[in-house]
Amino acid sequence: MRPKVTVVGAGNVGATVAQYVVERELADVVLTDVIEGLPQGKALDLLQAGPIHRYDCRLTGSNEYRETADSDIVVITAGLARKPGMSRDDLLFKNAEIVKGVVEQVARYSPNAILIIVTNPLDAMAQLAFRVSGFPKHRVIGMAGILDSARFRTFIALELNVSVENVTAFVLGGHGDTMVPLPRYSTVAGIPITELLPKERIAALVERTANGGAEIVNLLKAGSAFYAPGASTTEMVEAILRDKKKILPCAAYLEGEYGISGLYVGVPVKLGRKGMEEIIQITLTVEENAALKKSAAAVRELIDKLKI
Ligand SMILES: NC(=O)c1ccc[n+]([C@@H]2O[C@H](COP(=O)([O-])OP(=O)(O)OC[C@H]3O[C@@H](n4cnc5c(N)ncnc54)[C@H](O)[C@@H]3O)[C@@H](O)[C@H]2O)c1
Repeated sequence: MRPKVTVVGAGNVGATVAQYVVERELADVVLTDVIEGLPQGKALDLLQAGPIHRYDCRLTGSNEYRETADSDIVVITAGLARKPGMSRDDLLFKNAEIVKGVVEQVARYSPNAILIIVTNPLDAMAQLAFRVSGFPKHRVIGMAGILDSARFRTFIALELNVSVENVTAFVLGGHGDTMVPLPRYSTVAGIPITELLPKERIAALVERTANGGAEIVNLLKAGSAFYAPGASTTEMVEAILRDKKKILPCAAYLEGEYGISGLYVGVPVKLGRKGMEEIIQITLTVEENAALKKSAAAVRELIDKLKI
């Protein structure tokens, strides 16, 4: 039997996740949304791409949670996306209401699932899902760092005219303007970029990465990025279902790691069949540590507003 993945929210990110998951034949997929016909229509359309893309995964769409029962993974993308001029934090109260309602249903029908949260503001929504579901921390993980580091990798590869496959990058902290890219852990074929690029160029790439989401929102005007977010989420789904023990930057609940307690923040974690199997601690410089603390404080502010 193939694993079962539910994607809640059949909008841009949700439908893209469904597409990438079946294209890799990772799981059968149930798409759900509050809009009648939307998840059903997209699921049927994607199913009909199967003969050409050669996947046999089952895809169904529904407005009910019954059909999501006993999912192995539930990806939550339900909620509003940013418009030009909006920050991720502007979405806080409306998306909190949506995510709370979704998580209550999901936890009821799939009590053993691993939740991957995508809805913004990401770290706060992950914390909300953790509280509302009552699931252990290893089964509630937020997607952000993979996307942020994919953006950084893209910009590094463009700058040096090398394959993206040669580039690894590390980004810590909350998903937002306070994210913390780590140039000294970002490499091209194993060589730290600090040895390949002058400081000012690295600073410019870091800046572009931190504003990577807004750059796309401003171009699209209606809606926000979804191809790279969909790919990043699928990498988490794959690492979990294939028990890859892959180390990836994700939002995880910290209990003292990096000197932070009781908060979801982006850190390197090991993803495997149990979900978030380990938080990897690396030694930070004084400046990096200060930047991470500042980023965590920004997340804490949102958590306080939500009183969770
Ligand atoms: N974590 C990240 O890195 C990252 C990246 C991209 C987007 N996002 C966030 O993901 C979310 C989705 O983005 P999108 O571009 O797919 O938006 P979208 O508007 O295209 O899709 C959102 C979907 O959620 C549905 N929805 C709303 N309330 C719902 C509910 N109660 N139950 C089920 N479905 C519901 C809507 O009908 C819509 O189809 C946004 O909050 C966005 O900010 C996060």
